[in-house]
Amino acid sequence: MERPQPDSMPQDLSEALKEATKEVHTQAENAEFMRNFQKGQVTREGFKLVMASLYHIYVALEEEIERNKENPVYMPLYFPEELHRRAMLEQDMAFWYGAHWQETIPYTAATRSYVRRLHEVGRVEPELLVAHAYTRYLGDLSGGQVLKKIAQKALDLPSSGEGLAFFTFPNIASATKFKQLYRSRMNSLEMSPEVRQRVIKEAKSAFLLNIQLFEELQGLLTQDTTDQSPSATPGLHRRESRRVQEPTAPETPRGKPKLNILSQAPLIRWVLTLSFLVATVAVGLYAM
Ligand code: HEM
Repeated sequence: MERPQPDSMPQDLSEALKEATKEVHTQAENAEFMRNFQKGQVTREGFKLVMASLYHIYVALEEEIERNKENPVYMPLYFPEELHRRAMLEQDMAFWYGAHWQETIPYTAATRSYVRRLHEVGRVEPELLVAHAYTRYLGDLSGGQVLKKIAQKALDLPSSGEGLAFFTFPNIASATKFKQLYRSRMNSLEMSPEVRQRVIKEAKSAFLLNIQLFEELQGLLTQDTTDQSPSATPGLHRRESRRVQEPTAPETPRGKPKLNILSQAPLIRWVLTLSFLVATVAVGLYAM
């Protein structure tokens, strides 16, 4: 059998994807949000934000997977029982945001861009869906397990796994074996060289969408902790961002800008200060 040359593109799609995304993977690991996360520097606010984004992303991804489950460009990778995350994320949303989570969870601009691309791919270029499924599911089965342990410790969560259902795959006994099976299924997809190139390009874009999300969330969190100005509209002003579109305030699923408790903090502080001043004046007047 002909073997690939050392510096040529590997024959197997799984190998080609791993190789082609090596650099963006490192970039993703080194995004500030992820670097902090790995150091155990993750707050409840940050964790809730990223989990809500993941909820929207997986709803879109799995909607497109369902649409294409019988399409030969995706069918061999259809593992709903083992992989699908929507039901798990719904549990996590209820844990983190309460019973009315559907009306209250944020929906940020970068999340919306990611979701838009997933729908475009599922509807118009379903042969690229493999790139998105690979990026998310194999990532979740790999680094995701480390992140789960870090979050559990940093956020002081119960060992029962509440709030972390997303990271749990009850129908996968061995992540290593399942990843091997998944890779062999990816390699079994019939694909022209032209499509293969587009799939590889799409996988890199999928990583970049994740990186843009991390950068946006980091920006929102930094903005919340540094902005104490009374005149600023909480969470709504714009800030500089290096390579990414400007982060905007998280929105609820209905599209209304959402003021989370984080972004309300300066407002609350001002209301308290004002109340204190009024009370001081009242006491002064009374004393006179
Ligand atoms: C702190 C962040 C991260 C850490 C520590 C991490 C760590 C890891 C580790 C240890 C592996 C296993 C490598 C192997 O089995 O050979 C892996 C694989 C993978 N990761 Fe990550 N990762 C991180 C972030 C991400 C992100 C953000 C994504 C994409 C959204 C991602 C996607 C993947 C994929 C697709 C694989 C499978 C590669 C392959 O075998 O083809 N990772 N990661």
